[in-house]
Amino acid sequence: MNNLIKYFLNFFDPETAHKLAVSMLSRNYFISYRTKNLYTRIANLKFKNPVGLAAGFDKSGQCFQGIFQLGFSSVEVGTVTPFPQEGNNKPRVFRLYKDRAVINSYGFNNDGMEIVKKRLIDCKRRDGVLGVNIGPNKESKNPIEDFKVTSSNLSNYCDYLAINISSPNTPYLRKFHDKDLLLEVIEATKEGMNQNSKYTPIFLKISPDEKYSQIDKIIEVALAKKIDAIIVSNTSIELPSDFLRKSKLVSGGLSGQPIFEKSTKLLDYINNHSKGKIGLVGVGGIENARQAYTKILVGASLVQLYTGLLYQGPNIVKVITNEIDQYLKRDGFKSILEAVGALNYKEAIKLNSIL
Ligand SMILES: Cc1cc2nc3c(=O)[nH]c(=O)nc-3n(C[C@H](O)[C@H](O)[C@H](O)COP(=O)(O)O)c2cc1C
Repeated sequence: MNNLIKYFLNFFDPETAHKLAVSMLSRNYFISYRTKNLYTRIANLKFKNPVGLAAGFDKSGQCFQGIFQLGFSSVEVGTVTPFPQEGNNKPRVFRLYKDRAVINSYGFNNDGMEIVKKRLIDCKRRDGVLGVNIGPNKESKNPIEDFKVTSSNLSNYCDYLAINISSPNTPYLRKFHDKDLLLEVIEATKEGMNQNSKYTPIFLKISPDEKYSQIDKIIEVALAKKIDAIIVSNTSIELPSDFLRKSKLVSGGLSGQPIFEKSTKLLDYINNHSKGKIGLVGVGGIENARQAYTKILVGASLVQLYTGLLYQGPNIVKVITNEIDQYLKRDGFKSILEAVGALNYKEAIKLNSIL
């Protein structure tokens, strides 16, 4: 049944297919999957398995409960901005089937924090960890204030907040990778949260395109400011030269298979240079269990995927978790947590016969 829905959705252009999928998930049209119990943890958050849905699918918090039913242990709603916005002009998402990739230039189309907040308050059931990814409006006069206001409005209603400084489709956003600006963004997010009674763990979502010298400074800031986790990574703007032409878009962020290597090397680098002191979420080009397991071995306590769901369909979490369970047994690990960071990039790639 779930695979039939996947084939049905393939007949539509990607944005329409996405809208239909969100609508079906919000009505629970899909059959639920039970997944292996593969407990993992970041900060004080417990995840029933290490596979989460990355930000950008449930942009406005409409269908996260339906996504939990597919087996995902966590869903990152968003990116949510203070005010609703339409996003960039259409067409703004393109599938590169042969490359098992997507290029998107959505530009934070979302219903805005007030509506999302109401949905989070109204939701009756939540079978997993709920993150909310926050960012500024495109035309904002004060993006730092946008982080503060979204944090104060939403942090009470989720399990973690993800600070998004890395989407390439809000033109100025990546400048917040700069050390001083990043400090301001984190301070503002914390100030917003302090207006509420509850502490909510803070994750920071970064770009895969930064120089490693810049990454060193980000690690320094993350450690100093006690960031709970770094999400590595968002989409890449470094596209093979023919990709944009093939996609017929003028600009956008690349996701899926072509960014697996780059995002996993970056994850490995951050794990080594933070000496295991920061939680890591591995994202970018995960379509199968070997890729997910590789990210865990190089340091990710949790992985997330998005593009893989589009190509592999709704049973992707079930398949990945079943196989990871076998790999853990094969390699003598008693739990996911034992496998986290056990190998370096080269060793993990070799073990999993990737590339
Ligand atoms: C269509 C699309 C929309 C996305 N929108 C967002 C977003 O709003 N906020 C965000 O932080 N990341 C967004 N992302 C990035 C993903 O969360 C993820 O970091 C990236 O796609 C790499 O993972 P993947 O290769 O598994 O897709 C989006 C990705 C895609 C493909």
